[in-house]
Amino acid sequence: MSISGIKGMNDILPGAVETWQHLEQEARRIFGTFGYREIRVPVVEKTELFCRSIGETTDIVEKEMYTFSDKGGTSMTLRPEGTAPVIRAFIQHKLYAQDPVNKLYYIGPMFRHERPQKGRYRQFQQIGAEVIGLDDPKIDAQLLAMLSHYFEAVQVPDVELQVNSLGCAECRPVYRQALIGYLEKRLAQLCSDCQRRYTTNPLRALDCKVPGCQEATSEAPAMLEHLCEGCSGHFDQVQMHLHNLEVPFKINPRMVRGLDYYTKTTFEMVTGSLGAQNAVAAGGRYDRLIADLGGPDLPGIGFAMGLERLALLIDDQEIMAARPDLFVATLGREAEIAGFKLLTKLQRQGVQAEMEYSGKSLKAQLRRADKLRARHVLILGDDELERGVAQLRDMDQSSQEEVALVNLEAHLQKNVSEA
Ligand code: HAM
Repeated sequence: MSISGIKGMNDILPGAVETWQHLEQEARRIFGTFGYREIRVPVVEKTELFCRSIGETTDIVEKEMYTFSDKGGTSMTLRPEGTAPVIRAFIQHKLYAQDPVNKLYYIGPMFRHERPQKGRYRQFQQIGAEVIGLDDPKIDAQLLAMLSHYFEAVQVPDVELQVNSLGCAECRPVYRQALIGYLEKRLAQLCSDCQRRYTTNPLRALDCKVPGCQEATSEAPAMLEHLCEGCSGHFDQVQMHLHNLEVPFKINPRMVRGLDYYTKTTFEMVTGSLGAQNAVAAGGRYDRLIADLGGPDLPGIGFAMGLERLALLIDDQEIMAARPDLFVATLGREAEIAGFKLLTKLQRQGVQAEMEYSGKSLKAQLRRADKLRARHVLILGDDELERGVAQLRDMDQSSQEEVALVNLEAHLQKNVSEA
């Protein structure tokens, strides 16, 4: 019996992978122009890293982590997100000693044991970006301008940027208490999950999808009304800069993020086309996280986007596999050997060239050239080889000319680079 892959973990096959490559290349290009540099961290970390950063009472840590003991008995976890590992590496390698400001990005798989459905998987790919060392509201706005620009560049239709502020260590506890007081009076209306966590993580009740919880929280106090002066001033400035940079956004005072490290600005890029999995990208500020993980007292902000969700949303008609510049077709044994040598030589020179390797008829070779959508086909026969010539067919123009083999390479290079 054949072995199948693991539920919720997808193969990205040729044909689909071109869309992913396009999404990744555009991220590298755009993030690069905004001054971000790539960082690569392992897919496995000590479990403690995620418990301390994401938070013990979050869904991710409570139910969704792939955790195991290695042979030495250390508890390890497949990373459910990228921020904590990046900050761990930032602290460990003292990146702040080289430069107080670090703009970093990463691309790679994350793992969460969630119930798989459209747009929600157990292994999924994120592209994330983090800015460490700056708490100026200009940076929040610039990060969001970059994210919006990326969404425009890869043509994601119908997304809305929603922003909120979750306050800081000064104002959040006051708000939390007010919310607990409000929920206490409506406990009977809440689902069992929200009842259980209403004192440990009361904010989750605000974005619980259960209708009873939505109804019970419809008049709940909002964080925005409880922001301290510092947080409220910061949020005003973020909005002013977003207007100034012409980044459209909406304030969503009920937005709660599923990770505990957030402070002040939080945001989501939301779509109406993916059902319950409506966040295509999400993130926010985390001004306490670096110190909480044992690093210097530096602020940070970042986001991550899910590539599966992006790939589901964009029209990938235009993104196709690269076409070969040239297909070498041969007739006769001598020509086959000479053609194979020529093919390899051209590939080494950077021409994307192909041939049919198993000595099939000329007709079968031309069918293969058609299937690969080759731009040019070179037809080389034994007698032509003797005369020192070959036929070069331009498949898009449907024209053909005889070219001298001595001039062939130069001719091909010219033709191919003009195509
Ligand atoms: P997050 O909201 O947990 O944030 O995930 C960010 C994005 O990853 C989501 O908006 C979604 O597109 C994608 N995603 C999450 N879970 C899944 C899943 N099971 N299947 C498919 N896609 C998924 C974070 O991970 C934070 N680290 C973002 C961040 C960076 N905050 C600050 N810096």
